[in-house]
Amino acid sequence: MNHKRVLRLAVTVAATGALAAGMTMTLTSTASAGTTLKASAAEKGRYFGAAVAGQKLSDNTYVTILNREFNSVVAENDMKWDATEPQQGRFVYTGGDRLVSHAQANGQSVRGHALLWYQQQPGWAQNMSGSALRSAMINHVTQVATHFRGKIHSWDVVNEAFADGNSGARRDSNLQRTGNDWIEAAFYAARAADPGAKLCYNDYNTDGINAKSTGIYNMVRDFRSRGVPIDCVGFQSHLGTSLASDYQANLQRFADLGVDVQITELDVMSGGNQANIFAGVTRACMNVSRCTGITTWGVRDCDSWRGSDNALLFECSGNKKAAYTSVLNALNAGPGITPSPTTPGPTTPGPTTPPPTTPPPTTPPPGPDGCTASVSLNSWTGGFVASVKVTAGSAGTNGWNVSVTLPGGASVTNTWSATASGSTGTVRFTNVNYNGRLGAGQVTEFGFQGTGSAAGVTPTCTAS
Ligand code: XIL
Repeated sequence: MNHKRVLRLAVTVAATGALAAGMTMTLTSTASAGTTLKASAAEKGRYFGAAVAGQKLSDNTYVTILNREFNSVVAENDMKWDATEPQQGRFVYTGGDRLVSHAQANGQSVRGHALLWYQQQPGWAQNMSGSALRSAMINHVTQVATHFRGKIHSWDVVNEAFADGNSGARRDSNLQRTGNDWIEAAFYAARAADPGAKLCYNDYNTDGINAKSTGIYNMVRDFRSRGVPIDCVGFQSHLGTSLASDYQANLQRFADLGVDVQITELDVMSGGNQANIFAGVTRACMNVSRCTGITTWGVRDCDSWRGSDNALLFECSGNKKAAYTSVLNALNAGPGITPSPTTPGPTTPGPTTPPPTTPPPTTPPPGPDGCTASVSLNSWTGGFVASVKVTAGSAGTNGWNVSVTLPGGASVTNTWSATASGSTGTVRFTNVNYNGRLGAGQVTEFGFQGTGSAAGVTPTCTAS
């Protein structure tokens, strides 16, 4: 019996109710008649996924269902820290690579799970703290996201960083004790390593509007306002015998912050309500235009980490359960979405990035005073992440470069939304092709990450 699970079920809000169908303009209402989870979800612009245990990929019944019904996969354990970096600096990608190959051969997208989590850390990391742990964890994010670059649709960059109960605060952990900015440092490192992946925060006991989900909501709102590169929030949804009446409203309030939302680890206690709860969750996702997919945490009841709860959509024999039919019907009945073109591009974090529809300025005359730059630093002992804001002067810019002179011992290890020349001493950052042209007064941002200290750096901006 898993203690964590007992805790989760105990705090599930005990209110079952019909979910309000709050459609938005981007939803299109057409019933469809798909006959598999993946086809029905795809008809509505969504994916339907499953967590996959590597050793089950040789089980025929399992693989038959996986490939027939699911068009997204996530490693149940194979991409976690203990699996991918069992000794510091020795990376093992066998299990993750096998899942990626399976997905590529079968037309499935891959969710990466999870770069940083307080559980399932290798022993060496559990025994670390302070700046050594901070460097090790950022290195882990960088190495793993780089290895899988281009192959992961969405990464759970940080998993389960908030406490249960009424505090709405961060959970205490060795990661948290490296400094409150550890989450944003992880997101910046993940963005730099795989600019094409959507970057998500993922948690449980967030199945309605409660203290924990509100704590996370406030963090995401803060990240969006400061340009920290977060694209999505995962709601694990390990559910008991009821579904909170504000489950959908909770998804919607996150979506309204400009992030996508997904149901990432769905499983439901068996019993009279199981099929209804599965359907309620599915309807809630369908009614939120930014809810882009649903993943169940396993395939058949006997594959589930929840042991005897019979928490999934298929019997061990492979037969479909009543809950399967209720999910399929809810997918077919639900509104569709056209994937939103307004989702910010992966390499342009932050709300201050100029929208792609901004007309290019008329060619401004070059001038040395054509732009200004300011830097904001998140530092810890041994490392930093710098966000640099570039503001065009009254003539606008065709291109820009920003120079910073780093103190001795400091070095740039990653850059996003700019190209760096040099890594120590005076480092020059030049615009990339989409953010060089700025109208008068227009602002863009780029960032870089490094080791050592960047305290006191003053950027100088030159326009062309
Ligand atoms: C679980 C796996 O299913 C188990 O096989 C493993 O022993 C423990 O972890 N939240 C998460 C998942 O984010 O990674 C967990 O997966 C379930 C809870």
